[in-house]
Amino acid sequence: MKFFIDTADINEIRDLASTGLVDGVTTNPSLIAKTGRDFISTVREICQIVPGPVSAEVTATDHATMLKEGQKLARIAKNIAVKVPLTRDGLKTCKRLSDDGTMVNVTLCFSAAQAILAAKAGASFISPFVGRLDDVATDGMLLIKDIVDIYKQYPRFKTEVLVASVRGPLHVVAAARMGAHVVTLPPNVLRQMYAHPLTDKGLASFLEDWKKTGQSILGADDSGKKQAAE
Ligand code: G3P
Repeated sequence: MKFFIDTADINEIRDLASTGLVDGVTTNPSLIAKTGRDFISTVREICQIVPGPVSAEVTATDHATMLKEGQKLARIAKNIAVKVPLTRDGLKTCKRLSDDGTMVNVTLCFSAAQAILAAKAGASFISPFVGRLDDVATDGMLLIKDIVDIYKQYPRFKTEVLVASVRGPLHVVAAARMGAHVVTLPPNVLRQMYAHPLTDKGLASFLEDWKKTGQSILGADDSGKKQAAE
């Protein structure tokens, strides 16, 4: 499963990319607006920090302008994935950009019918928004299972299911159980995934007992004298 980070905050991206666990980044107009920074230069900087796919979204709604914007965004860096909304014009633009070899992430997906069209249009990624479906009392993860199962019927589909609008670690676990290809995580969700009070408690106990031995791994002499197992 690939982990993308869902933010345009350079400091957050740099911090989490340093773990080696980050395979890409997704942004959208709201996340860009939140930074208060210039869109193009921010995306360019992100592409230099994370070598994997970096999603940058068009803001036009008509095909002709979407295409121009998408072609301009694709020129920023080779790892740009142009993001288009799942509309008629977004699908038309996706088909044209993907035919030209550009990575496309089709976003704002809320149904299996939409996801089938995105695959038909040659999308590299489809982004179903699970959190926003949950918000309206619809089980977003059931949509993920539906799309994964449908795509499996057509091996020629190259579209990867990119679970978006993730609100917590349980969305990630459920997505992994279903075989989703990618999850895009708000920074805090990735941190929530590794944080566990029992891990902290166990580590404190190990280190307390180790301290009593008075030994130090790096401080040991080079005589090869065995250190007691931890
Ligand atoms: O990638 C889409 C994501 O940014 C939307 O998240 O929580 O606003 O539904 P949310």
